[in-house]
Amino acid sequence: MTGYAAITGWGKCVPPAILTNDDIASVIDTSDEWIRTRSGIRERRVSHVPGSDLAAVAAQRALAAADADVNDVDLLIIATCTPDTVIPSTAAHVQRKIGAYNAAVFDLNAGCSGFVYSLSVATSMIRSGAFKKAVVIGSERITWFLNWSLRDTAVLFGDGAGAVVVESSEQESGLLYSHLGCEGDAAEALQIPNFGTAGNRFVDDYGVFGVQFDGREIFRRAVKGMAKETKIVLNELGLTDDDIDRIIPHQANLRIIESLAKHLSIDMSKVEVNIQNYGNTSAATIPVAMVEALEAGRIKPGDRILLAAFGAGLTRAAGLVRWGDRTTPLQTSDAELPPCNQTALEILAEAIKHTL
Ligand SMILES: CC(C)(COP(=O)(O)OP(=O)(O)OC[C@H]1O[C@@H](n2cnc3c(N)ncnc32)[C@H](O)[C@@H]1OP(=O)(O)O)[C@@H](O)C(=O)NCCC(=O)NCCS
Repeated sequence: MTGYAAITGWGKCVPPAILTNDDIASVIDTSDEWIRTRSGIRERRVSHVPGSDLAAVAAQRALAAADADVNDVDLLIIATCTPDTVIPSTAAHVQRKIGAYNAAVFDLNAGCSGFVYSLSVATSMIRSGAFKKAVVIGSERITWFLNWSLRDTAVLFGDGAGAVVVESSEQESGLLYSHLGCEGDAAEALQIPNFGTAGNRFVDDYGVFGVQFDGREIFRRAVKGMAKETKIVLNELGLTDDDIDRIIPHQANLRIIESLAKHLSIDMSKVEVNIQNYGNTSAATIPVAMVEALEAGRIKPGDRILLAAFGAGLTRAAGLVRWGDRTTPLQTSDAELPPCNQTALEILAEAIKHTL
């Protein structure tokens, strides 16, 4: 290991079309009250473009915040479980869109834990000395995969992307330690069946594919799994709950976040929560919440920030980030998504028609 891997830039991109709970209640049997009280979600975003577009804008904003030249990026990892295409990787699309042609690029699918997994991989690759400057992105267009006849699942997800720039540094900062795991015995608790080589694509009625889950099983395993990984990370670093300045947890359900905080005896005032605005954007929740915490001045130089996630797999992950000296961007980017001239319900109309 040589030195550290500091986070020097950050950016997010959420699509403009907003889907409220009432919008959903106008097409399926649910209510704003049920969704709010069971999950904490009030609204989410629906993308009018492929996930790589969201990722590219988030990455360009992160590069500007770091005042980094895209030609110096030698590694680009995108955490996504909703790729634009199976071949090529979403990372290849993003490389083309931002012009990062000197980078090794790949997708990493660890479901909603994907960003913590990817940050861990990028940090190790930089600390090994083999790479110098990475862009790590969490980006999802998960509304594209929803089955609107499964109301427990369909109401929880939204689209978005967040990105960070990670650079080799001598200062003790960035991801100091992480621990990753998976509970493959419960792999089927969260899945998109009928999609991929396990299926028979030559049957007449290939069927509808969409995200489905066993909500209660995931809820139980999520709290236990994140608490377990978190304790491993704190023990390894010789820290206690009191040493944590902020927690940025995966945003899947407000009640899961509250249970985790209780488990760790950490006050909710230290916990980043934005699920009310975006729902579960899978691998994008943590980087988006990190960007919003920085923009709102809730991250201070030297802060110890705990990341905790779980997701399809069922993966689980935790990591401890020591923030560096700078909490403001060096530059801003003028990167923008193409304009959207549809409402969220209009974007989803066909998906709702075919899956309901
Ligand atoms: C899905 C989840 C919100 C359900 O909350 P819950 O309190 O466990 O609710 P239950 O599953 O017990 O369902 C309670 C009732 O609400 C109903 N219900 C489910 N979805 C509903 C919806 N969208 N609107 C209205 N009612 C709904 C159920 O049919 C059930 O009715 P019943 O009691 O008559 O059978 C919760 O389990 C959860 O968030 N799990 C984690 C899922 C997740 O985030 N997965 C991704 C991980 S990255």
